[in-house]
Amino acid sequence: MLVSAPGKIILFGEHSVVYGKGAIASAIDLRTYTDGKLLNEKIIKIHANDLKIPGLSISFSEEEVFLGTDYGKAGFVVSYVKSAIERIFTEYGSRKGFEISIKSDIPVGAGLGSSAAVVVPTLKLLSELLEMKLKNEEIARMGKEVEFEVQGSSSGIDPAVSALGGGLYFKKGKIERFSAPNLPLIVGYTGEKGSTKILLEKVKMLKEEYPGIVNDIMDAMGEIAEKGKKILGENGDLNELGALMNINNGLLEAIGVSTKELSELVFASRISGALGAKITGAGGGGCMYALAPNKQREVETAIKIAGGIPIRTKTTDEGVRIEHE
Ligand code: MEV
Repeated sequence: MLVSAPGKIILFGEHSVVYGKGAIASAIDLRTYTDGKLLNEKIIKIHANDLKIPGLSISFSEEEVFLGTDYGKAGFVVSYVKSAIERIFTEYGSRKGFEISIKSDIPVGAGLGSSAAVVVPTLKLLSELLEMKLKNEEIARMGKEVEFEVQGSSSGIDPAVSALGGGLYFKKGKIERFSAPNLPLIVGYTGEKGSTKILLEKVKMLKEEYPGIVNDIMDAMGEIAEKGKKILGENGDLNELGALMNINNGLLEAIGVSTKELSELVFASRISGALGAKITGAGGGGCMYALAPNKQREVETAIKIAGGIPIRTKTTDEGVRIEHE
């Protein structure tokens, strides 16, 4: 059986969501595929081929779940898979042998939800193979538990987007799903991962030093997310969304989460015709995204020239799905 699940992008509201404002994330059409079958022997085999970091493709095969070998970023993904398998066995009440192959379009550690996009189809695949038939909402809940175990914390937004697809409005832990239009996006990856923990601390310190100013910035970012949600739910006006992205990016710059590399990718995208460009996720490295419906190739080239790795994608309504039995 082959199952796939999408990665995600935060469209609006990173950082301000931590201070109780709304944020909007959406599934994107970069997917992870898990292909598997039950085995008669009591053995678990994981083949994780093509877990991609742009420019680098890591391949390894015939890995057992309980392997402690360090494969760098790919090894990190295996720890999510291990936890997902244990979670399913606990729910199922016993252990079975099986074999899984994982393939992913999503760069690991770039802030595009690659970990959740491995956990979610693994949970779904095992739930189907073991005839548990878990609902996608239950898969999202279990995905959050897996992230909690591996990362020590999780808002649950990544596994929720990956399991349910579409756009998700997230506020104070509550999640509301809506159908998002297909936005043509170019993601620009700086090749570096920012530490979410360090960036959250940096913003917190700035807020303590300048509470009045930073609170106003958070309010403005919250208002942008509300406006963005309204536009996405109504006419999907790309010019308006682009304008909101640009304002949101300025505010993210103001709270100090951009880097020279991110800003260069943002400006390169705008100069080459993007309607809007902004950091996505915690910042300090990671990715930005540009909305460039008629200038896809130009923006891709500009991002490359500015030193980034362009990834063409679009928002999608589809969450986890069975590709074939
Ligand atoms: C990170 O992708 C988004 C942040 O808002 C942190 C969080 O919401 O947990 C920076």
